[in-house]
Amino acid sequence: MAESMQGLRRTHRCAEVTEAQIGSEVTLMGWTQKRRNLGSLIFVDLRDRSGIMQVVFDENDIGAEGFAKAGTIRSEYVLAVAGRVERRGGAINEKLKTGTMELRATSLRILSESETPPFPIEENSQTKEELRLKNRTLDLRRPDIQRNLMVKSQVARLSRDFMADEGFLEIETPMLGKSTPEGARDYLVPSRIYRGSFFALPQSPQLYKQLLMVAGYDRYFQLARCFRDEDLRADRQPEFTQMDMELSFVDIDDVIDVNERLLQHLWKEVLGVDLKTPFPRMKWIDAMNRFGSDKPDLRFGMELVDISDLVKDCGFSVFADCVKSGGSVRGINVRGQASMPRKKIDALTDFVKGYGMKGLAYIQLREDGTKCSFSKFMKEEEISAIVQAMDGQPGDLLLIGADQFKLVCQTMGALRCDLARKLDLIDPEKFEFLWVVEFPQFEWSDEENRFMAMHHPFTMPMEEDLVYLDPKEDLGRIRAKAYDIVLNGVEIGGGSVRIHQADVQEKMFECLGFTKEQAQEQFSFLLNAFRYGVPPHAGLAYGLDRVVMMMLGLDSIRDVIAFPKVKDSSDMMTQAPAPVEEKQLKELGIEIGSEPKD
Ligand code: AMO
Ligand code: AMP
Repeated sequence: MAESMQGLRRTHRCAEVTEAQIGSEVTLMGWTQKRRNLGSLIFVDLRDRSGIMQVVFDENDIGAEGFAKAGTIRSEYVLAVAGRVERRGGAINEKLKTGTMELRATSLRILSESETPPFPIEENSQTKEELRLKNRTLDLRRPDIQRNLMVKSQVARLSRDFMADEGFLEIETPMLGKSTPEGARDYLVPSRIYRGSFFALPQSPQLYKQLLMVAGYDRYFQLARCFRDEDLRADRQPEFTQMDMELSFVDIDDVIDVNERLLQHLWKEVLGVDLKTPFPRMKWIDAMNRFGSDKPDLRFGMELVDISDLVKDCGFSVFADCVKSGGSVRGINVRGQASMPRKKIDALTDFVKGYGMKGLAYIQLREDGTKCSFSKFMKEEEISAIVQAMDGQPGDLLLIGADQFKLVCQTMGALRCDLARKLDLIDPEKFEFLWVVEFPQFEWSDEENRFMAMHHPFTMPMEEDLVYLDPKEDLGRIRAKAYDIVLNGVEIGGGSVRIHQADVQEKMFECLGFTKEQAQEQFSFLLNAFRYGVPPHAGLAYGLDRVVMMMLGLDSIRDVIAFPKVKDSSDMMTQAPAPVEEKQLKELGIEIGSEPKD
């Protein structure tokens, strides 16, 4: 039977014992990583979240009964072991923090037995993620995940302390609120009292934090849970945490300043890395032009080259027609890859087709002569001009795409990143931070057939573009006072200066296609608050999970979330979402209909 804690007290965590304790008595508790029987000695690696200590059971120290008990230990048994710390009798284990020591056990309690776990508890597990997520509790025992979550806890604590020192107040905002338009679908919570009415879980505390500024709280900070019902990706979860802030009486540079110092502090404290500030800033349009992305990875080159002007009158109709119809032709120079086999180039063509482009043209600057996929349509001088524009040197592979601006940029940008990964051009030790600024205020939505806010409807346009804030003007040209903080090609945070003038806010709603009545109905609480004195304010929110993921160089956000969801937004461990009892539905006045037909 499992024994209890009565009269026992843990003195240290396993790997928190240091050589200073050699010769003294300690009591350790943890899980059995491994047990080896060597006849007269039994060795157990005892594990807790700090690491491992080797325990030696010797009948001479622990007696016959204790030794027999030690013989029953299996993997993942929970033990309490008291004894004396000694220098290792056998070989030193350099991989362990405690590798020069061992614990000679004088007493043992088995606090809990364990069935054989479905997979080994080890670092860099080779076990399928599906099996691990089904048994997440066991998976969470693995040292790498434990380290990730400890770093996350450290980042949260450091941020809180830093922000408090900077005069930010931590203020909670509701989980049960009203839907705020941030672009994603809401998670809705039905009201029992107001049948047919719903709360929305917050996509972010955006409006609340602005109201806190109106209320005079000046500087707000919160680690806020956010919910977005959108498709999952490697860096996206339906439920995630923002490090969220808002500041009054500030402009862009003030927000950027405090955030550069925050990031500097975090990187220094957690990783011992000195970040050089100020971080570079790049306009959105330059990021799109040069990297085909609003979150460029600056750890490698291979920038996009715009050759539209060069080919607008050329004989190759794919290029010329594209430019004539308002599109763009862009290439990347893949250095030293001229002899990439045809099969691989075909695979790249399939890659760009996956993004919706129709093809990929190429020029191989090979030793044995230039090979060009469109040579029969173009004069030699025209091809040379392209090679020159793209700085093609002998040995280079030039890849060129032609399509509408957005699609060709996005696709060639994605191809650039894909090739950099495949060709091992990325230094994993590097941290390349970048502020992307001057985002477009509006983005045209074909689906909605109207302009939508690119960031959100409370973002301030750049002062010089305010004159175009009119539904009759070309809204596409308005730039916003919005900024994203990008690290190694991932958007880790974003924010903006907000509109603090009621008339500008009303104009904004008008441009977004809201009637006065609709705007009042949805945002009366904000518009009313704005009638009574609003300070200029601005803010930003990080995805905490993403920050930690990028800090640790991980590929998946699931590795920094204790209980993550999977692709279809379900939880493999609890099997949520799950049906509820008829009685619960009745109380809420909900009837489940059949699948909607689209
Ligand atoms: P935004 O929508 O850009 O801005 O979100 C801010 C940051 O939150 C992170 N993030 C996510 N992380 C994990 N999973 C998700 N599904 C997810 N969605 C977003 C990203 C992102 O940069 N209220 C504004 C901020 C502001 O203007 O102050 C907002 O929510 O790292
Ligand atoms: P084709 O005339 O279809 O044989 O095409 C000649 C070359 O143009 C091939 O290398 C195609 O992959 C390429 N191509 C076709 N469409 C595009 C496009 N939209 N952008 C770039 N190259 C293209």
